Amino acid sequence: MKVKAAFSLLAVTGSAASLSTVQPAQKPNITVVPNAYIIEFQPDFHPSLQPLQRFAQTPVGVKAGYQLRHEFNSSDIFSGVSVTFHSDVDLESVRKANGVKNAWHVTIVPRPEPYFRNGSPKVLSTRSSTQSTAGSSNTTLPNLRGVSGVNQPLLSANIQKLHDEGIRGKGVQIGIIDSGVDYRHPALGGGFGPGFKIAFGWDFVGDNYTGSNTPMPSPDPLATCPSGGHGTHTLGILAMEDPDDEGFGLIGGAPDATIGAYRILSCLGSGTPNDIIISAMLRAAQDGADVISMSIGIIGDLWEALNPFEPVVTQLAQKGVAVVAAVGNFGPAIYSASIPGICKDALSVGAVENAVYPTHYQAHDEKHRLLDYISVLPFPAKSEQDVFVLGTGLGIPINDTVASGCYQPAWDAAANATVDWSTTILLVSFTDDCGNSWFQAQDLGVSTIMAYLTSEDQLIELDEPENDNPPGTLWLTYNSSKAIVENIKGLSPNETYSLQFVSTASQSQQLIADPLGKFVDSFSSLGPTIEMTMHPKIASPGGTILSTWPLEAGGYAIVSGTSMATPLAAASYALLKSQFPHLTVAQLFDRLKTAASPLPEYNSTIPFTSTLRQGAGMLDVYAAVKADSTISPSEFSLRDSASPPPQNITITNDSKQANHYTISHDPAAFLRAHENYLAGEPNFDTNSAYTPHSVPASAQFSTTKLTLQPGESTTITVHITPQPDKYPYSTPVYSGFIRISSDNNVYSIPYMGLPYSRDAVGPITQNATTTIPYASPQVLSAPGDQQNVFSAKATTPNIDTYHWKANASESIIPFLRIDIGLPSKHILYELVPANTTFVPTIYGFDPSVKIDYQDTPQPILPGFLGVPTYGTIKEYNLTDVRGSSATGFYYFFTSPTLSNNGVTYNITSGDYRPLGRALKWNGNETNPDDYESYLGPVIRADIPADVFPSR
Ligand SMILES: *[C@@H]1O[C@H](CO)[C@@H](O)[C@H](O)[C@H]1NC(C)=O
Ligand SMILES: *[C@@H]1O[C@H](CO)[C@@H](O)[C@H](O)[C@H]1NC(C)=O
Ligand SMILES: *[C@@H]1O[C@H](CO)[C@@H](O)[C@H](O)[C@H]1NC(C)=O
Ligand SMILES: *[C@@H]1O[C@H](CO)[C@@H](O)[C@H](O)[C@H]1NC(C)=O
Ligand SMILES: *[C@@H]1O[C@H](CO)[C@@H](O)[C@H](O)[C@H]1NC(C)=O
Repeated sequence: MKVKAAFSLLAVTGSAASLSTVQPAQKPNITVVPNAYIIEFQPDFHPSLQPLQRFAQTPVGVKAGYQLRHEFNSSDIFSGVSVTFHSDVDLESVRKANGVKNAWHVTIVPRPEPYFRNGSPKVLSTRSSTQSTAGSSNTTLPNLRGVSGVNQPLLSANIQKLHDEGIRGKGVQIGIIDSGVDYRHPALGGGFGPGFKIAFGWDFVGDNYTGSNTPMPSPDPLATCPSGGHGTHTLGILAMEDPDDEGFGLIGGAPDATIGAYRILSCLGSGTPNDIIISAMLRAAQDGADVISMSIGIIGDLWEALNPFEPVVTQLAQKGVAVVAAVGNFGPAIYSASIPGICKDALSVGAVENAVYPTHYQAHDEKHRLLDYISVLPFPAKSEQDVFVLGTGLGIPINDTVASGCYQPAWDAAANATVDWSTTILLVSFTDDCGNSWFQAQDLGVSTIMAYLTSEDQLIELDEPENDNPPGTLWLTYNSSKAIVENIKGLSPNETYSLQFVSTASQSQQLIADPLGKFVDSFSSLGPTIEMTMHPKIASPGGTILSTWPLEAGGYAIVSGTSMATPLAAASYALLKSQFPHLTVAQLFDRLKTAASPLPEYNSTIPFTSTLRQGAGMLDVYAAVKADSTISPSEFSLRDSASPPPQNITITNDSKQANHYTISHDPAAFLRAHENYLAGEPNFDTNSAYTPHSVPASAQFSTTKLTLQPGESTTITVHITPQPDKYPYSTPVYSGFIRISSDNNVYSIPYMGLPYSRDAVGPITQNATTTIPYASPQVLSAPGDQQNVFSAKATTPNIDTYHWKANASESIIPFLRIDIGLPSKHILYELVPANTTFVPTIYGFDPSVKIDYQDTPQPILPGFLGVPTYGTIKEYNLTDVRGSSATGFYYFFTSPTLSNNGVTYNITSGDYRPLGRALKWNGNETNPDDYESYLGPVIRADIPADVFPSR
């Protein structure tokens, strides 16, 4: 049994919670490679020397004791090195070194692998595949011409009409950075090098790189292992073309483009360092790529300032190389977009569910009632298969819960049943959270699971094949799910249900709509950045996509993710570029964005989903090529303001006739990052489930109708005003579109913003609504061994006493709740002398009440910005890879420990006050007035020196 653990970034399989109840996927932790940094040089710092020699001239490079990781020697794009120091060197000292322009941590970018949010694990079929059309591992590809819907994404993104006109990307070079590619696949050209579809590329890692051992680069990006599936799939979406006698007749977005494949993920390991990815980007540019497709990324704090890809992408765009990157699979929470997608000059791409299931096949029961199921290939069984419903043998009515796998007695009963699993399929229901238990089927010897859906809004997510055995799980469509439940209900006792599989595609020409089709996928990450720049920029089909896969693993797979949306967007750019080779990257992006179609909200009266999920909307590449006007800009990121300034829109009539324009406004959904803030939940600042609201902004235009002569241009203004909002710490974001209709086309400009000024609100959460009386900021008391918010109690006003004991269960400790609800670049929590004269912006006590302080011998330190202190509880700086965005802060004083300059020590008995300071938005770190601060009541500490010796 193989259950892939944890998270993936950009391809999803096996998730399935219903859209309305989906919880955000957990953000993965960022793995920082210790003491390893990417360093960019000042342009005028020894410019004639090679990067390593330049590094040797910097104060940090003069010190011996480092190992070179990479040299970045593209003088006009990015000049620097990455190194690992042999001893501890902190980022700040590297950044401040003479000659260094900027520096970043080397971090591991996780492999875009399937993850299982609430969904199904891989259930690998053990059934022999010799009867399969897929043949043995010496793969003969199927020939399933005429299967419906395989090229639907080309229709949805309006690419097909360009292909029909012969516009297929000829003359454009596309670099793709991924896990390598099985280019032996006939749909991918069958070879590598000049003259082949994949004409250039590089392998930066080799087959055995784990992310921490020595990479084994080679000139050949071939990957034949199943881990090469991701790159083989994305490259297929970009440019595949099945030969006439093999495969499905699949066609990629730009089949005539020339492709460069850059392999940055091996067959092993869970990720690759960001410095290897930067090397790949620079190499792709050097090799002449016009556009780079990157279905990889890392989610972290979304400060633009923390992103080492930023200067690379900016310079690439300046040089005419576009970067198209996945926005990530961490939806539906806001602030979940990935780096490098969030680079200012990148086109980040969100995923839209496929309009139809790309393939589907049929089985019929003994009464010849047909069922449709989703699978890449038809299920190969030639003989009749019995169906065993999970829950059979329990002697109780089988409902969806019993059949889901969540009800353990059903598995026990299945274990006791005498079943020949080689000719029997296990039927399970798919309900939230229960797919995880299906691994138990493997222990029973089950080789095939058939899953039925229990609601229409469940996403069918197929396994990524790891061998060419038939799939372990067959998914019934929603209609067939209802049908099989009815059919089985109608059986008389002791009657068995069996299915005969139809082994050809001939009866499945009909399209089956995916009920979630044409809506933004729930896994697709949402922007914006902390700085409130809109992401994703655009959306493209990425859910339930059929494309190529390594030959030994079957040759084809259906996979979902923003990984799958990205190459189609890169191909779209290539098609547009082939028609407008002289436009800049920004102009081509503007054209794609303004021609895109805004997408509706699923199952809602709100007409459009938030621009934080869809950006400009679904790609319409034909419209972008045929546009009769140029509209600029292509988005309004209105930042944080109750009254954003008027925005200009420039309209140019590029057509040969007079053109009449109508300008209008389409509000889109309003979202809160912390929806649970309003519900009063105690964890009010954690990301919450996706809940769209109708709180439209208004838009006033300088004019709503105008006429332009051929070649004429004009500028109009729009004044967008959001509705005021009472809950700033819930992070409310309004959004919408400005629509500009010409005689022949419809253009739109997406917008979004926060309806208040962050400067005016301040970062420390105040007056929060919660169901427990412990809002922020406050000092609470809690038993030392019960560190959760529910066991904390309000303290007596102004002063309370706390006891630390050897046995934590006997301790009563302070629990600080000082939430930083808005982003802050510098957050500092300390204990300061109880008699401090510091004047905070927020008092946690009545300053007029006189208290006889109990002295402490604890040494007083000078402190930050002249505020005397006993030491630091916790500090966050922008240079920390995590922590300085909007963060909840619960601090349980388990041991009475502080730190100063990296040295930790216990404090002694006596009186203290907690002080929290957070830099305001746009504040200056060295200006005391730019901090919001909370000074708490007296913490009277009773600390046994024998248990907590002070040093
Ligand atoms: C991240 O780290 C924290 C603390 O070590 C842990 O509790 C959490 O589960 C980790 N998250 C993931 C996604 O691995
Ligand atoms: C496929 O078959 C050929 C000829 O029998 C053999 O040389 C080759 O190694 C096989 N390839 C694989 C991947 O099994
Ligand atoms: C990679 O690992 C495999 C299995 O351990 C081994 O057979 C192979 O020789 C290794 N390849 C290289 C290039 O080291
Ligand atoms: C399904 O059956 C189980 C077991 O009998 C029962 O506990 C559960 O309440 C039932 N659920 C529904 C929705 O009827
Ligand atoms: C399975 O069989 C064992 C042994 O006969 C029996 O003790 C147990 O109750 C059975 N379990 C179920 C769920 O039928």
